[in-house]
Amino acid sequence: MTGYIFGKRKATEVAHALWKKVVRRGDLVVDATCGNGYDTLAMLRLIADDTRRGRVYAMDLQKDALESTSSLLDRSVSVDERELVELYAMCHTKMEDIVPTGNAVRLVAFNLGYLPGGDKKIKTESETTLLALEAAKRIIAPGGLISVVAYVGHSGGREEFEIVQSFGAGLPIDSWVCCKLQMLNWPLAPCGDFKSVVKVDVAVLYFAFWRDCLVMSVGSGIGLIKSWTWMS
Ligand SMILES: C[S@@+](CC[C@H](N)C(=O)[O-])C[C@H]1O[C@@H](n2cnc3c(N)ncnc32)[C@H](O)[C@@H]1O
Repeated sequence: MTGYIFGKRKATEVAHALWKKVVRRGDLVVDATCGNGYDTLAMLRLIADDTRRGRVYAMDLQKDALESTSSLLDRSVSVDERELVELYAMCHTKMEDIVPTGNAVRLVAFNLGYLPGGDKKIKTESETTLLALEAAKRIIAPGGLISVVAYVGHSGGREEFEIVQSFGAGLPIDSWVCCKLQMLNWPLAPCGDFKSVVKVDVAVLYFAFWRDCLVMSVGSGIGLIKSWTWMS
């Protein structure tokens, strides 16, 4: 996380580091916005093992994104590992349709916004993001994690960020641990001057754990998170 604070690491790398503390080999995980496949690949590296029980269910609205993810996987992992990823061209509001009934999911990850290098007009939208977060909440296992990287520097990003924030803040305190990591002195709306200094969209990370003993075993991760802003 210090790498992120000092501008040397990306928000997604902070998310990946936390996933590593939660996800076990053989788990079922969902990449709700697979895009160019970097998050899918990070998940696959966490779940793959000789039992071949683990699965990454990865989805995106765009055909280009699925092709990009498929190509990254083909270049990066063995044929056996590649078979543990299922790619779907669909909206993430329907994620419950593809996860086998009765199987709880350890991680549902959202990396919101538009496809880097793609059409910026095709992006996640507040309304469907909220429905997908609700779906994630229904399929997540006790001790599982909903991870969201929200970007506020593009059109519609601020509204979506507020939707994610109110979803997180509304999770019941007896069963959820929910926190966010946000640069407090970075602007929350598109801003020309700021963009010329920081050449990336401004990210806010949200992590919601469904409490149980696994959550407690996150240990130092939770210790760090406790010093961040608590939402519920
Ligand atoms: C920031 S990109 C994701 C980056 C990706 N996780 C990676 O590692 O490269 C956001 C993606 O969300 C996709 N998306 C937008 N709305 C969606 C929806 N309703 N359901 C699923 N994917 C959606 C976009 O097409 C885009 O590819």
